[in-house]
Amino acid sequence: MSKDQSWVPVEVDTTVPSPARVYDYWLGGGHNFQSDRALAEKIIQLMPGIRDAARLNRSFLRRAALFMVESGVRQFLDVGSGIPTVGNLHEIVQEADPECRVVYVDKDPVAVAHSELLLLGNERTTVLRADLRDVDSIFESEQVSRLIDLDQPVGLFMLLLLHFVPDDWKPVSVLGEYRDRLPRGSFLALSHVAAEAKPAGMDEAVQTYNAKSAQNQAYLRNRDEVLRFFDGYELVEPGLVGCPAWRPEGCGDFSPTAEINAVPWCGVGVKS
Ligand SMILES: C[S@@+](CC[C@H](N)C(=O)[O-])C[C@H]1O[C@@H](n2cnc3c(N)ncnc32)[C@H](O)[C@@H]1O
Repeated sequence: MSKDQSWVPVEVDTTVPSPARVYDYWLGGGHNFQSDRALAEKIIQLMPGIRDAARLNRSFLRRAALFMVESGVRQFLDVGSGIPTVGNLHEIVQEADPECRVVYVDKDPVAVAHSELLLLGNERTTVLRADLRDVDSIFESEQVSRLIDLDQPVGLFMLLLLHFVPDDWKPVSVLGEYRDRLPRGSFLALSHVAAEAKPAGMDEAVQTYNAKSAQNQAYLRNRDEVLRFFDGYELVEPGLVGCPAWRPEGCGDFSPTAEINAVPWCGVGVKS
């Protein structure tokens, strides 16, 4: 990455890896520090397919976003949006229709600082620093009030986010708070690391990640547990599936390693 770190928020401890920056590294991004790269590389050694799993998730993001645009959605809330990388939500939907509006939300100060820089001059996209549990402050924020009309359908994205949320945070009820604020016809796109997935090295990779990332433990969930996040939504075809099985468009949406294709559960639901 560039040696110019003037954009790095002062409160960031660059010696502690963060999920946003480790994931950025796996995707080939440049907004990560030595501590992130060391952990990311260690996990690549344990689980060589991890980069492919991250890439599959990004390609699901693209297909789900375009599906929502085709379904008439023009406003999006992306919670746990991460560090901007190739193929961000606003780029995808604004290429399809420049009128689309996007609010990004993340708790990571580096993700937010870099998003702010990238979005300078884009009046239809903004970013907000918040924890996903701060549902009131997200919906009452200046950013959401300005760009999201809650009388019109919203595309809510929560990709590779909820496995950082322990059960004692009551994620099903947190998601219900989002759902209850969204009008009918809104969509939820969600991906989540699957407890059933057994690619080589995944158990060791999760243990290593959790040992180095005390503040952001990963909690894997099985299909039934992930399905509960769609309470109040009707899953669109093909339902909750391994990432590439969600409306694939080409061989680039698949991993050559079959077990990697099962790593993230992916689905889109519509609020009826
Ligand atoms: C693996 S990245 C996923 C980024 C993007 N959604 C994607 O799928 O490409 C997970 C993101 O969730 C964010 N995150 C984790 N816990 C969060 C929380 N409690 N509230 C808001 N964001 C959170 C992290 O900072 C990170 O940017």
